[in-house]
Amino acid sequence: MKIKIAPSILASDFSRLGETVSVLERSGADLVHCDVMDGNFVPPITFGAQAVKAMRPHTSLPLDCHLMVLHPETHVDDFAAAGADIITVHAEACDIGTLFERIASFGIKKSAVINPETPAEALFPAAEQADMLLLMSVHPGWGGQKFIPETLKKIETLRNRCIRIGRPDLDIEVDGGITEENVKDVIAAGANVIVAGSAVFRSSDMAATIERLRG
Ligand code: DX5
Ligand code: ZN
Repeated sequence: MKIKIAPSILASDFSRLGETVSVLERSGADLVHCDVMDGNFVPPITFGAQAVKAMRPHTSLPLDCHLMVLHPETHVDDFAAAGADIITVHAEACDIGTLFERIASFGIKKSAVINPETPAEALFPAAEQADMLLLMSVHPGWGGQKFIPETLKKIETLRNRCIRIGRPDLDIEVDGGITEENVKDVIAAGANVIVAGSAVFRSSDMAATIERLRG
């Protein structure tokens, strides 16, 4: 499977988002991971659909919008209109089936995510229809946290489920605490889309780091 790197702009300089997403494209990133936080589902507030709309003209990379929000059903339309290519909703915050229909009605990719404490089985229903599945490997809300090692078993469980239902190549994204040191374990467990915030934006050579993360 193709390994895709999705740098999280949460770790970037928010005063330069347009320039950042252009640089990410030139640096070989495959997606731009946009961490949307509402101050309710998670304590911090980051940015909304308007920021995604502002970034849109500065990159042709897919904008991978991770909605860490309550009532995501009230935001999907705005992110679709803003130019999101993937919208990821938390199983803990909504009825995924209903939201998948709405997201798909805009012709964009639908993805579901669970927090570290939610069992992998919670994504089994979504696995039938999803264009991607996301596993949090840190507690959502902040970048720069340590990778939670129990996530590796969840990745395996989810990849085995995808194989069992005849979707062996479904994109499985993992998000949080991924570094050059642990990325190989994450990929070996069955993930193929890697979110990295700190690892990319703390690097002195983003292109080289992205290449090394891709292995
Ligand atoms: C946390 C975000 C993650 C985080 C990843 O809620 O969903 O995407 O920004 O950042 P690092 O790679 O620094 O852990
Ligand atoms: Zn994220």
